[in-house]
Amino acid sequence: MIPPQLTMSSFHLHLAIVIGFCTQMVLADCPRLCECKWKSGKESVSCPNANLSSVPLHLEAGTQVLDLSRNNLVTVKHDEFGKAGLLNLQKVYISQCRLKSLERYAFRKLINLVELDLSHNALTTVPSHTFDSIPELRELKLNNNPIQRIHNDAFVNVPQLIRLELSECRITTVEPRAFYGLETTLEWLKLDYNKLTEVLSSSFTILQNLHGLELAGNPWNCSCPLRPLREWMLRKNVPFGIPPVCQNPKRLHSKPWDKLDLDEFACIPEIFAYESKTRGVEGKNVTMTCRIAGIPEPSVRWLLKNKVIANLSGASYSNGKKLYMVHLQNNSSDLTIFSADLQDAGVYVCAAENKAGRAEASVTLAVIRKPPETAFNNKILIASVITGIALVLASCLIALCIYSVRKKQMLTWRTRECRREDNYEKIEMNHKVAGNSNGGAVQAEIAVVATKKNGEYRVVPVADNEEVEEEEEGNANVEVAAKKVWGDSAIEKRWNSPEHLLDPEDLHIPRRTLQEAR
Ligand SMILES: *[C@@H]1O[C@H](CO)[C@@H](O)[C@H](O)[C@H]1NC(C)=O
Ligand SMILES: *[C@@H]1O[C@H](CO)[C@@H](O)[C@H](O)[C@H]1NC(C)=O
Ligand SMILES: *[C@@H]1O[C@H](CO)[C@@H](O)[C@H](O)[C@H]1NC(C)=O
Ligand SMILES: *[C@@H]1O[C@H](CO)[C@@H](O)[C@H](O)[C@H]1NC(C)=O
Ligand SMILES: *[C@@H]1O[C@H](CO)[C@@H](O)[C@H](O)[C@H]1NC(C)=O
Ligand SMILES: *[C@@H]1O[C@H](CO)[C@@H](O)[C@H](O)[C@H]1NC(C)=O
Repeated sequence: MIPPQLTMSSFHLHLAIVIGFCTQMVLADCPRLCECKWKSGKESVSCPNANLSSVPLHLEAGTQVLDLSRNNLVTVKHDEFGKAGLLNLQKVYISQCRLKSLERYAFRKLINLVELDLSHNALTTVPSHTFDSIPELRELKLNNNPIQRIHNDAFVNVPQLIRLELSECRITTVEPRAFYGLETTLEWLKLDYNKLTEVLSSSFTILQNLHGLELAGNPWNCSCPLRPLREWMLRKNVPFGIPPVCQNPKRLHSKPWDKLDLDEFACIPEIFAYESKTRGVEGKNVTMTCRIAGIPEPSVRWLLKNKVIANLSGASYSNGKKLYMVHLQNNSSDLTIFSADLQDAGVYVCAAENKAGRAEASVTLAVIRKPPETAFNNKILIASVITGIALVLASCLIALCIYSVRKKQMLTWRTRECRREDNYEKIEMNHKVAGNSNGGAVQAEIAVVATKKNGEYRVVPVADNEEVEEEEEGNANVEVAAKKVWGDSAIEKRWNSPEHLLDPEDLHIPRRTLQEAR
């Protein structure tokens, strides 16, 4: 009886011999300019510098590694590997082949392909169109191709990709979703020696398992747009071999990233006054505001005559100092002057500063003299209006009073004179005299002036049409009053008519017009 162990081992021995024989056979089949051998446990075929313009036929179907470097493989046509029977390929090297294009199904059926080297060729884009045939790809080298842009979703069809090399291309742009699909798998990313000046951090920050990110050799503009990437690299401690170096701005020229503070990745702040001209009122608080923008957030200072105004300087009024308060909130800075003085007028400068530089704006403050209390003002106005109205009313009243008093006086005189019969008798006597001498016809008019002087009335005879002289100026008033009451012509008519002489009642009425007797 043969022990089973022994049987097994002899079987293995035989198998090894058979495999060895087969290998010998394969090696015998190897094309003239190729080398076919076991290498690192894989069946490998290397055909460097073989002047090949296509994938060589008649290779062992079990070939796992095919190196076609430094050939003349300008293009790879549909199914070129499949037609050569190389469906077990795991690694394919097509570098330095002047490769310009890959047809869409170039790698069809290479379901085991895990490594593809296409570096040092003439590809102008990432050959994403070929990737759906090779979903198992783990490592892709595209170094040294004239690729300028990494398009969105360039690698979504190779979601197992762990290592991606894009060094020494001419990449200027990495689109925001360039590495979509590689979030959890990609561990090594080389983008060194390209033409990148800035990238969107989110293109990279989605990569959760990155163990190395090579960004050296790019003309980085280390301004604020690059800050989020740097911040993420620092926070996640993403390793790199050679540190990237800044080309711009000037202040950071040739400074390596690892020697720079995060705040150096900055943009010059912007600042502008909310109101470049502000008015304060004496004795009142006045606040000036400047709006700020800047990454990182700049520090803000207020200056007056080139002197920095400290926050809460002159902390109390009692020591005679000015009290200022500086308040920063919501991207704007306020300077409040408590109880402004006329001397506070001037040009206040708000200056924002970060590592990138400094910007300033100015606010011109005018302080107007404290006006009298507006409430008091109103009172005065109202009072004067009321006084005015009262005055007008009062004068109207006075005028009315005077008028009515005069009227009353007039009436009083009339009644009084009626009562003083004796006076009228004298007058009547005179009339009678005149009437007698003229035979009843009145030749001369008699002007009777009821001059009130010391309570006496005089009767003065005058020539025809002549007026009785008025002796007392004061009487004019009475006459004017009378004129007003009865009207000019009425008085004259009645006075001048002969009948009136017969009416003793009319006699006391003063003459309207008085002229100086000559
Ligand atoms: C390379 O192959 C091309 C044809 O594909 C041929 O014309 C050329 O002479 C070859 N060169 C060498 C060095 O063999
Ligand atoms: C660098 O980036 C900043 C901010 O985007 C920009 O203002 C500046 O012009 C850039 N410099 C260069 C040389 O491109
Ligand atoms: C000025 O502002 C302070 C604090 O806001 C306040 O206490 C004070 O009453 C204000 N003074 C005037 C005159 O408005
Ligand atoms: C100035 O002091 C006030 C009061 O303490 C404070 O609220 C404010 O934040 C300070 N401003 C600055 C810029 O520090
Ligand atoms: C302040 O400005 C920054 C950018 O300058 C912005 O991201 C932030 O939302 C602003 N904050 C407020 C409260 O407006
Ligand atoms: C912050 O600034 C924005 C825009 O300037 C404004 O709409 C918002 O009301 C401000 N918030 C506060 C709390 O001041």
